[in-house]
Amino acid sequence: MSTDYVNAPVDRESAESLATQGLVLDVVDTADAELFGSWLQAESRGFHDGPEPVEKIAAWVDGLAYRRTTGVWDETTTDAAAPVATVSSWVAPLTVPGHTTVDAWAISAVTVSPTHRRRGIARNLLESELRTANSLGVPLAMLTVSEATIYGRFGFAPAVMAADWTINARRATWSGPTPHGRVQFLTIAEAVEQGPALIERVRLASPGQIETWPLLWKRILGLLPGDKDAPKNLRVVRYDDVAGVAQGIAVYKLTEHPVDIFGYTLDVVFQASATDDAYAGLWRFLLEMDLVGEVTASLRSVDEGFAWQVADFRAARKTRQRDHLWTRILDVKAALEARSYSAHGRIALQISDPLGFAAGDFLLEIADDGSATVEPLVGEIPDDAANVALSVNDLSALYLGGVSAVTLTRAGRITELREGSASALDSSFRSAVTPWLSIWF
Ligand SMILES: CC(C)(COP(=O)(O)OP(=O)(O)OC[C@H]1O[C@@H](n2cnc3c(N)ncnc32)[C@H](O)[C@@H]1OP(=O)(O)O)[C@@H](O)C(=O)NCCC(=O)NCCS
Repeated sequence: MSTDYVNAPVDRESAESLATQGLVLDVVDTADAELFGSWLQAESRGFHDGPEPVEKIAAWVDGLAYRRTTGVWDETTTDAAAPVATVSSWVAPLTVPGHTTVDAWAISAVTVSPTHRRRGIARNLLESELRTANSLGVPLAMLTVSEATIYGRFGFAPAVMAADWTINARRATWSGPTPHGRVQFLTIAEAVEQGPALIERVRLASPGQIETWPLLWKRILGLLPGDKDAPKNLRVVRYDDVAGVAQGIAVYKLTEHPVDIFGYTLDVVFQASATDDAYAGLWRFLLEMDLVGEVTASLRSVDEGFAWQVADFRAARKTRQRDHLWTRILDVKAALEARSYSAHGRIALQISDPLGFAAGDFLLEIADDGSATVEPLVGEIPDDAANVALSVNDLSALYLGGVSAVTLTRAGRITELREGSASALDSSFRSAVTPWLSIWF
């Protein structure tokens, strides 16, 4: 995206509101390592971590400098250089149904110091982020959240769920297809080199994935200075198809069982595959590892193929399922036109949005090829159109095709203004591939 989001002006409305409390809202010049380092320490403390070692801060200063880095300062505190609140943002392509992407405003590092909590600082930060994104023409915002109770009030809703899986390896017995390629080990250095390109290749396969950044891959590989998970226990394997082309990668860790001697637990730290053959090849390799009693994998899709590739269906259990990616539509036309749909038709949407960005009446017209146009609805609603009233939260939940409009209607959140409209919405909006996001940000 060409938009210069880093240098966009500070949001005046929030700056003025915070100034009434003697607080200063500003964007950090990330080239100033000392200032940025102080902001990073404040963020870490906001999540109850830190103080971080200088080498780790230096790695972050290098790797995260491209982000818009915003803070709030209170000049009356003993360490006035350290912000009392932080937020960072950048524009990242988000995969939407149709093997394509939309630019989304990624929000991260939302913290307010416990000394300054519950006086509206986070509200000012969030609203300023949304106004800035909107003024730059970014059609939606997104975040992964620590608590599910904070962001609904700003128009966000969970659109991608995540699951943690535990597989009883002794009971599972592979029953899926026989992979044709081969698995081979990579050194950590090779993984550093080769991982990003592979991950980038699979990004369009699942709605909900976003473009990653180099520092994230290093973190996954335990390479950040001072990381608790040093790479010592990590193993990395690559899957090559019969033609010798790399099609998948898996990072895993083995932990010896405290009682069961030679009974290891294998934790799948990361796994990505570009083809079904590579998926089968890597999961078969992971599930059939000798001396392993249990395989665990977190932050996976709620709809994993491996559950259907083992002989004992009860051997693979979802131990936890939760909300993961929250989205917030800002520009209805741009967001809805960016994705494709499973069924043609017309849908009239009466959208409420207390913050105003997405509010209004719109007509979504989906062509036979799944592409769509959206226009403000003027005049009569066409006779053949589905018609619903919903909040921007619910539209955002539906957006990636992983949440059911029928369920939201039965839950009393969406109102059908014409009978049968919710199932018409589902026919068009639901994604054939269950949305999945494999990382935190
Ligand atoms: C969550 C956090 C950022 C809130 O900051 P804050 O400045 O105290 O929040 P505000 O005073 O602006 O509150 C804004 C609204 O959110 C609500 N809220 C704030 N924190 C909340 C929480 N943890 N759970 C539920 N509601 C919360 C407030 O009640 C307020 O509601 P209202 O405006 O509708 O009355 C802060 O407590 C924090 O840093 N927590 C630890 C780090 C964290 O979890 N960050 C979120 C990462 S995704």
